[in-house]
Amino acid sequence: MPKEALSILDQRTQATYEIPIHDGTIRAMDLRQIKTGPDDFGLMTYDPAFMNTASCRSSITFIDGDKGILRYRGYPIEQLAEKCTFLEVAYLILFGELPTEPQLKQWVAEITHHTMLHETTKKFLEGFRYDAHPMGMLASTVAALSTVYPEARNVLDPKVRALQIRRLIGKMPTIAAYTYRHSLGFPYVYPDNDLSYTENFMNMLWKMAEPKYQANPILARALDILFILHADHEQNCSANAMRAVGSSQADPFLSTAAACAALSGPLHGGANEEVLKMLDVIGSKDKIPAYMEKVKAGEFKLMGFGHRIYKNYDPRARIIKWAADKVFEVTGRNPKLDIALELERIALEDEYFVKRKLYPNVDFYSGIMYQAMGFKPEVFTVLFAIPRTVGWLAQWQEMVCDAEQKIARPRQVYTGQAARDVVPMEKRGVTATPTTA
Ligand code: SDX
Repeated sequence: MPKEALSILDQRTQATYEIPIHDGTIRAMDLRQIKTGPDDFGLMTYDPAFMNTASCRSSITFIDGDKGILRYRGYPIEQLAEKCTFLEVAYLILFGELPTEPQLKQWVAEITHHTMLHETTKKFLEGFRYDAHPMGMLASTVAALSTVYPEARNVLDPKVRALQIRRLIGKMPTIAAYTYRHSLGFPYVYPDNDLSYTENFMNMLWKMAEPKYQANPILARALDILFILHADHEQNCSANAMRAVGSSQADPFLSTAAACAALSGPLHGGANEEVLKMLDVIGSKDKIPAYMEKVKAGEFKLMGFGHRIYKNYDPRARIIKWAADKVFEVTGRNPKLDIALELERIALEDEYFVKRKLYPNVDFYSGIMYQAMGFKPEVFTVLFAIPRTVGWLAQWQEMVCDAEQKIARPRQVYTGQAARDVVPMEKRGVTATPTTA
């Protein structure tokens, strides 16, 4: 039986080393023994953007990018989207098993109990301009909750963690809805605990003068499915931010705010908003070929396409297309869908995209559906952040409880100046222009 190990010959010293292989990886710290002499620090790995670096061991989400497989705790995303509710999946992601009926009832009651916001939060929100971007308001307000619940910093106490997890899951829709109402100058709508998680979110968004908000069940279910699809995605950029900030034992509110900030970027969760802008710029199907030439010339990315892990169709994009059709039965078809479908058809035949294995990702169709439901593009990433809070919290809790984890502090390859002495001002000549930040 061949040994699960690497034999490394360091040609600088002719020394050989045996580096054990575990789970398809070698420990970077095992390379530090490879030195040219006693003063040598030893070898490190260099991996910008962590293209080939596992930062943790996790049992939450499994992705096979080549096969387009996504599973939460072993369950295929297709089955979860079809058979479960979002809070049921949230329970699975956080606790590792699907809940029994009594467990789900208790869980829903606990989350529902935490949908209200401290009244001071409304005053905090009033400080934003009417046209403040919802992701900036969301990240700031989530961070502000850290001041409302100072006990949250006791992250090593399981009871404290459990309470903050319920608070964040319960309050994200309320904060999101309040930022939306603030942008329209509408009064805030308080949570209605008779309603389901997504129905209550719609209630806080859209209730006007009617005594009781009635959510369209098809739209509520479509939103629930979209929340399931966005709940977790292993070590994506924002999950990495959550783990890195949380590794200093910052409280979960400030860590979640950092994750929101990472998600807001156009290369990550902000892509769903960019897709709508892109479709508006293209304008009509006949303009697609000219736009694609600019993409292939490298002028800009085709937003909603490509993925670090998926080199096949993102399984979530397929389900979103199905959910969007259900929404269109209620709202009427979003004409942008025709441009998106034609864009996908052309891209999937084009050598540039085929060679680079660029397929539609989760963000390509979600915005078209959200817009048909009445959401403005700048709210789309907020709709990503609400369910992803469950994944961030599961990743955070797994990190806090992982005996192998410590404060995240990568190394670097130093490329700067060697040691040099400060020259008195009067003796400083005209130096090369300083490197820009
Ligand atoms: C999400 O990580 C996650 O799991 C994220 C996410 C989650 O659930 O958390 O799935 C959510 O963020 C989905 C991705 C949303 N972003 C976008 O749709 C923005 C557009 N996509 C690209 O920016 C890009 O595809 C990324 C950022 C998603 C992935 O980038 P990588 O892995 O760093 O790939 P790359 O930039 O190295 O691209 C490889 C090649 C390059 O061409 P060459 O230099 O080899 O010639 O493919 C090209 C890229 O230029 N390329 C694209 C492209 N994406 C990659 N070219 C045109 N359009 C694109 N969208």
